[in-house]
Amino acid sequence: MRLLMPAGRPDAERRDKGPGKVEGVFYNPAMRLNRDLSVLVTEAWAERHAARRTDGRPFRVYDGLAATGARAVRLAKEVRAPVEVVANDRDPDAVALIRENARTNDVEGRVVAVQGDFAFGLAGGRADLVDVDPFGSPAPFLDTAIRLVRDRGLLALTATDMTALCGVFPEPCRRRYDAEPWHGPGMHECAVRILIGAAVRAAARHDVALTPVLSHATDHYVRTYLAVRNGAKRADAAVARLGRAVEEADGTRHVQDRDALVPADVVRAAGPLWGGALHDKALLSDLVARLGDHAALHHKPLSALLSLAMEEAGAPPLHYEVGEWGRRLGSNPPSREGLFAALRAHGHTATRTQFGRDAFKTDATGPQLTEAYRAAAQDAQKER
Ligand SMILES: C[S@@+](CC[C@H](N)C(=O)[O-])C[C@H]1O[C@@H](n2cnc3c(N)ncnc32)[C@H](O)[C@@H]1O
Repeated sequence: MRLLMPAGRPDAERRDKGPGKVEGVFYNPAMRLNRDLSVLVTEAWAERHAARRTDGRPFRVYDGLAATGARAVRLAKEVRAPVEVVANDRDPDAVALIRENARTNDVEGRVVAVQGDFAFGLAGGRADLVDVDPFGSPAPFLDTAIRLVRDRGLLALTATDMTALCGVFPEPCRRRYDAEPWHGPGMHECAVRILIGAAVRAAARHDVALTPVLSHATDHYVRTYLAVRNGAKRADAAVARLGRAVEEADGTRHVQDRDALVPADVVRAAGPLWGGALHDKALLSDLVARLGDHAALHHKPLSALLSLAMEEAGAPPLHYEVGEWGRRLGSNPPSREGLFAALRAHGHTATRTQFGRDAFKTDATGPQLTEAYRAAAQDAQKER
């Protein structure tokens, strides 16, 4: 893709990090993985849509906060299924740039640039995939996005307000997401789950059910794709998957029912948040299979993320970190592989997760984890 850049330099998606301005309009090359994944997910959903429909209506994407149109143009150009994209921004300079980028990339007919305030308007009509990629929190845009998205569609949310979602500043998390954040090891997963929880509750007010099919925490943001189904009963079922994340005095972490009494020895609690699966395994396999057809995508980070998502897909919510357990027990941590071997030898599950190189998921309780950890640390000592 050729995207208009400052000083008139047409360029492909640049690899350098950090947000900047393209002729006064926001552009962040560090969001490449986010947009790469968008191409794959949109294609998978557009194909399902095409297989279901008999009238040939193309899959319609609504990019509510489109800035340069980087995502919109890429979807129109790279998705191998019929799609049309509405690219909205309230900034007239952004809308002019979207038009220009669509023209430069020969997708003028499939990218419609519109100017409007996404918090209020439905300029451009309803869509099968609504993308919300704001500065900071998507919370102010949830109602519009839910009213815009069609049944069986997808809602894609990005949040960059990590200091709120990770509890560095709890007040904005309470205000925007009506949730208590989790700060410390495990916070990025709770951030994703709080975002999903807030979206599920917002949708339920419209009798719409949301279910995450792919979610990730990458660099400075979290992102989730939520499958949309209309219906009050379905919405009730989605809301019933919300819970409270707790850490007990013995270190056990789990998500408990939202209405359950908080145990007296709880040392940490967060939520309400989504307690169900973060991914749909069938979609993940589909995306992995599609990667081979897209030479332009930056494969390494994408395949790494998809394989970690696949591993963690069936694991329980919340995770631990090897280093934090070492600090807790005051001992040198074993390798993660050594700990995994000990956990499995003790009859527990152990899986890697996208939420950190040192992070892992297990069905062991805190005391069971301690036992396996000590066994692994002893083995490591013998080997030294
Ligand atoms: C983070 S940028 C979007 C990045 C873009 N999705 C991409 O992939 O490059 C946020 C954009 O939202 C626009 N924006 C902010 N508030 C808005 C609103 N209420 N309605 C429409 N656009 C808005 C800004 O002008 C800005 O261009």
